[in-house]
Formats: sequence, structure tokens, C-alpha cells
Amino acid sequence: MPIPEPLPLASAPSAQRVCEPFGAFPAPDHFDAELAAFLAQSCEQLARWLGSAAFRTPLPALSVLPDVELKATGMAPEQLLADLQLVMDGAYNPNHPGAIAHLDPPPLAASIAADLVCAGLNNNLLAEELSPSLSHLERRLCSWLAEQLGLPTGSGGVAASGGTLSNLTALVTARRSAGLGTCSDAVVLASADAHVSLMKAMAVMGLPEEALIAIPTAADGAMDPEQLAFQLDRLRHSGTPVIAVVATAGTTVRGAVDPLHPIADLCRNHGVWLHVDGAIGAVFGLSDRHRHRVAGLERADSITVNPQKLLGITKTSSLLLLAHPHCLHHAFATGLPYMEPSWGGGHGGECGLQGTRPGEVLKLWLGLRQLGRSGVADVLDGAIQRRRNLEQLLACDGLELRGGRLHLLAFTPTGLDQDQAARWSQATRQALLAEGLMLSRPLYGGRHHLKAVLGNPHTQPSHLQRLAEVVHASI
Ligand SMILES: Cc1ncc(COP(=O)(O)O)c(C=O)c1O
Repeated sequence: MPIPEPLPLASAPSAQRVCEPFGAFPAPDHFDAELAAFLAQSCEQLARWLGSAAFRTPLPALSVLPDVELKATGMAPEQLLADLQLVMDGAYNPNHPGAIAHLDPPPLAASIAADLVCAGLNNNLLAEELSPSLSHLERRLCSWLAEQLGLPTGSGGVAASGGTLSNLTALVTARRSAGLGTCSDAVVLASADAHVSLMKAMAVMGLPEEALIAIPTAADGAMDPEQLAFQLDRLRHSGTPVIAVVATAGTTVRGAVDPLHPIADLCRNHGVWLHVDGAIGAVFGLSDRHRHRVAGLERADSITVNPQKLLGITKTSSLLLLAHPHCLHHAFATGLPYMEPSWGGGHGGECGLQGTRPGEVLKLWLGLRQLGRSGVADVLDGAIQRRRNLEQLLACDGLELRGGRLHLLAFTPTGLDQDQAARWSQATRQALLAEGLMLSRPLYGGRHHLKAVLGNPHTQPSHLQRLAEVVHASI
């Protein structure tokens, strides 16, 4: 792959903007002007980096990394900021309008600010005495969001650092609730297009790979409920215990949504836990205009939601929401004999896998409040509109389009074999990168595709038009 030219520093700190030397720890007894200047300086540097995103490429040139070794004495603020700039120069550039390869949108302003404040608060969600307001905020926000998605009154959940961890937490909780904690032959059923994090969950739970049973998908990429019914009957007859069915609301390559109502009916009839991996799609349930895209979400026992993937909440932001949140406590409570007892609704470290963790809820809460209901709906509207637009622009006999109800679209030329598709996808991705448009190159159904994730609010119709021209010229 050709390596793009290194770029000049986007905003190296100038001589006039150099801060005074400062104490390593913020002063506890007066307003620390040096700290404030250092933070202001860092924020300005970041704002310049974000504000110059369109003049760089989505995928940066290889940049020079600063030293990692400690120097004999501490470094001055201006040196720290210059080193920081070097790392920023080599960072992936999500604020670029052509950054549409993955589920990593531009960051939301309030979410950035809350992340900074969260670092300064340095609270710990392990226990209430280390995060009194944040523990409370997390519980309240999880309950509110769960009810917004249609889970019953009394529902709630917990934040986890990423969807992988939310899915694992869900399956451990489901297993414990079914009394299968020590059962080595229990299984999980999920669609063949479900996310690879479920394979990790099997490994962590001490289950063999075969314990994850892949249910075939229909032509639209969604789980075939008849195949699920067949497998559930087969398992019942063989006496094999089932931990959970995992339905996906938004598959990773094409954004397909499994048919949640028929799947929920089957789970109810078989007395099996339904986990919905809504890492991509669950946020559509927050808007009246888009809820139909994930119809049936409200019937889940647990839902993974990743506001980091479309709403711009800074990473990581994932929640596991449950109809019966006490199940988390049942699965994970250990007692924390070195902490004061909980006076609220339980310690964060006793309702999930993580112990010490930051108050990630702060950036989610502030980001959502900045958007408001209309802002959330606008983000979702824009994403769907761009997917529709691109779908129209690409439609032709020479391309197989694989989309769904959400904001993802994958495509590959008709009639290519595996090797030809690999070569086409590589060459076309490079041609698109040269235009400042970054798509990803997933292997799907045995052939490489190009994939666009249309959640970037900066992407304009003109970018999509150019994308389509490059792709049409490639086939
Ligand atoms: C459907 C789905 N579930 C789960 C995950 C895992 O989320 P994370 O990367 O936050 O761990 C992903 C990641 O892309 C995903 O697409």
C-alpha cells in the first residue's frame, strides 16, 4: 500500500502561547492559574486539530512518534504539548467528512468537555464513596434510557467499556439467571452474521467454540426465525441447556436487524433469555421517527447499546440495559469488604465485570443533553438519508448492494470470484482514499466488499457523488 506523504504539524504550539512551568498536581487551596492555562492550551490545540480535519486525510500519514522513555527530570508544558501534537498528527481523523469507514463518528462537543472534566474528577465507579454523584447518575441514566427503549418500569443497567464487554456481561448474567453457571454443555444461539465479540464471550466463559450455534441468515442478512425455531426444538429434544438467544439489531457489515418479534416469541415459548446486541442499532429506538427500525427491542431481557458508534459520545460509551437489573447483582455481587456499604442502589463494581472504572456516564449524559431529542433525531435522520442517497447513487447492474434498515451499506461488483473481489476492493479503496474518502473492506459471504458507514454528519451529498463516480469507474 502506498504510504501518504507526512503532513506538516497542524497546529504546533507557537512561542507566544507557551505556558508557565506548573506544579504536577493541581493546587488544592487556590485557583491554579498554571493548570488553567495548561488546560486551555491543550483545549486550543485539540480545537485546532478538530478544526483542520478537512484539510488532512481521514487516515493520516505515518508520523514521527515522540520518545516514550522518561527523561531524568520532568518536562515543561510546552514540550509536553509539542509531543502531544506529534501523537495527534498520527491519529485517525474522525472529524474528516470522508471518514466513513467504521462506526467511529466525529466526537460531540459536550462529550469532549465531559470527558475532560471526568478525568479531572478522577472518581471511581467501583464504589459509591468514590463516586457518589456519578454512581447515582449512571443508575438514573441507565433506567431512563432503558425505559425510553421500551423496557418495563424498574429496568436499568450498567456502563461497560465497549460493546464487547456489554455482550459478555449479558451472557454471564443470562447464564447465572438460568442456573447454568457450572454447566459445561450449555449453548448460545446467534445469527451467522453476529459480532465476533460473542466468540470472545464463549472463550471467557470457558465454553467451546461449538457452544455458539450460528443460525443462518435470510437474503437480507437477518436471522431466519424458522431456522432458530428448528434449532431450539432440536436442543429441547436433546436436553441441551440454552443460555441465551442473541439477536442482532444492526449487524456489523450491513446493518441488518434480526426479526425481533418472532425471535422474542420463540424465546418466551422456550423460556430462554433474549439478549439483543444493539451496539449499532439500539439508538434508533430513541426516536419516534426511527423506532420501527428496531421494532421488538422492548421485548429483550437485555440490550447492548453503544452510543459511541453513531451519536458521537466519546469512546468508550456502551451500556448493558436489562429488564430486571437485579440480575446483574445476582451475577456479579461479591461484597466489597474494603468499602463502606452502598447507601444508594449498589456499588458499580458489584453489577458488572469491571472493578475500578471511570465515570463514562458523564460524557453520555452531557452529550445527550446537548443534542436533546431533536438533535438525536437529526443525527439519525441524517445517517439514514445519506445511506439512501448512496444506495441510489450506486444502484446499477454491476454492483451487488448489501444494506439494511440502518445507516450501513456494503457493496461488491457482480460476478467476481474471491481473488478478483479482493483485488478490486484494495484498488478501489486506494482510489477513494486519494479522494479523501475512507471506506472499509470487510470480507462478507466469502468475498471482499467495500463498506460505508454513513453516520458522519459532515459528509455532504457531493462527497457521496464523488464516491459513486470512483466506484462506477472501478467496475
Ligand atoms: C454488532 C456489534 N456488536 C458488538 C460490537 C463490539 O463493540 P465494541 O467494539 O465497542 O467492543 C460491535 C463492534 O463493531 C458490533 O458491530
